[in-house]
Amino acid sequence: MPAPDPPGAGDPGWRAEVAEEAEDGFRAMWRDLLPIGLDAATGGYRRHGWTAADADCRAWFAGQARARGLAYEIDRNGNQWAWLGDPASGDAVVTGSHLDSVPDGGAYDGPLGVVGAFAALDALRARGIRPRRPLALVNFTEEEGARFGLACLGSRLMTGAVAPEAALALRDADGVCLAAAMERAGRDPEAAGRDDERLARVGVFVELHVEQGRHLAGTPHRVGVASAIWPHGRWRFDFRGEANHAGTTRMEDRRDPMPSYAAAVLAARAEAERLGALATFGRVRVEPNGTNAIPSRVTAWLDGRAADPGVLDRLVEETTRAAAGAEVTRESYTPVVTFDASLRERAVRVLGGAPTLPTGAGHDSGILSAEVPAALLFVRNPTGVSHSPREHAEESDCLAGVAALAAVLTDLLTTPPTPPM
Ligand code: GLV
Ligand code: MN
Ligand code: MN
Repeated sequence: MPAPDPPGAGDPGWRAEVAEEAEDGFRAMWRDLLPIGLDAATGGYRRHGWTAADADCRAWFAGQARARGLAYEIDRNGNQWAWLGDPASGDAVVTGSHLDSVPDGGAYDGPLGVVGAFAALDALRARGIRPRRPLALVNFTEEEGARFGLACLGSRLMTGAVAPEAALALRDADGVCLAAAMERAGRDPEAAGRDDERLARVGVFVELHVEQGRHLAGTPHRVGVASAIWPHGRWRFDFRGEANHAGTTRMEDRRDPMPSYAAAVLAARAEAERLGALATFGRVRVEPNGTNAIPSRVTAWLDGRAADPGVLDRLVEETTRAAAGAEVTRESYTPVVTFDASLRERAVRVLGGAPTLPTGAGHDSGILSAEVPAALLFVRNPTGVSHSPREHAEESDCLAGVAALAAVLTDLLTTPPTPPM
């Protein structure tokens, strides 16, 4: 049992709600998952959708579901579900996150919410909680979009936020399309798309996630509740030029796309600083990619985020202006997410006044929030670092996150519905 936090630290006593077995279970699950998809050279994770590492993560999820006697299924879009209670009775409380990673990602982004979901269920069972509604645990596919370029792929497909034809045609770096990858993994791509039947079963969604910033760091609060997600998107910039010899082509004769790309990077950064937005060129492809060849083409992706959609538009406009001659294609866009106020207030109350905070990071709970009330709980991250092998959360903070999730789930699963007036 963790020691209570000092007075005034915001510990309302809900940490005591996690049974020791659930804590041991959390540690064991965490240990099991740690080696999957770990790159020994970088220390980061490469768990991209529908790859061998992803298959291992999926086998782990299925094993955890079966070990607990939960009804296990894979939906039409490849997301994994584990049910306690009858799914058909509807109004389910759903919790979970994702197991995939960015290239060289950390251990916590995603897995904390899936492992946390199983551990929270263990805690509910240890305490003899009798749910009045079904409970489902979920692992959403390819949340990071690291392989096919579109973040929250599984939840977007399920909610129809992306058309199945568009998603299935997306290609990875080797030219393999999503449809082929799903087929190779034994799924039927023809079945992908908005899943009304499944959505009708979901009453509420709660996601536990490591914080990807420093709002909670240095405060006594181990857990916070998200208020909103900034609007964000991905834009592809195609700069075309002409390949030629680096040693014989006079500077004035070159058609080199690299300087325009460089100008776009500098402009994005300067504009983001000026506007209070965030701009990242984190991925670039150069063709033919030879030290002694002028490139024929540079393709680069801008990840843009801002609190205000108008500001985000300005950022993209100014970057496009600086990227003289580039063809710019918006590959994805997620509008601002404001989490359901009454669910958020309920979670804050259950957690004894946990702080609320906005984030610039996208989440499956953000996509789900367009369909059902959704909430996002954050676990303190001492450095704020994420999408990096250095991402970290203290074990005691993760366990506090599990306790917080268990407390919120208990409240949702056991409170009788308010009778109609
Ligand atoms: C998801 O992690 C994102 O990139 O926002
Ligand atoms: Mn992430
Ligand atoms: Mn995540």
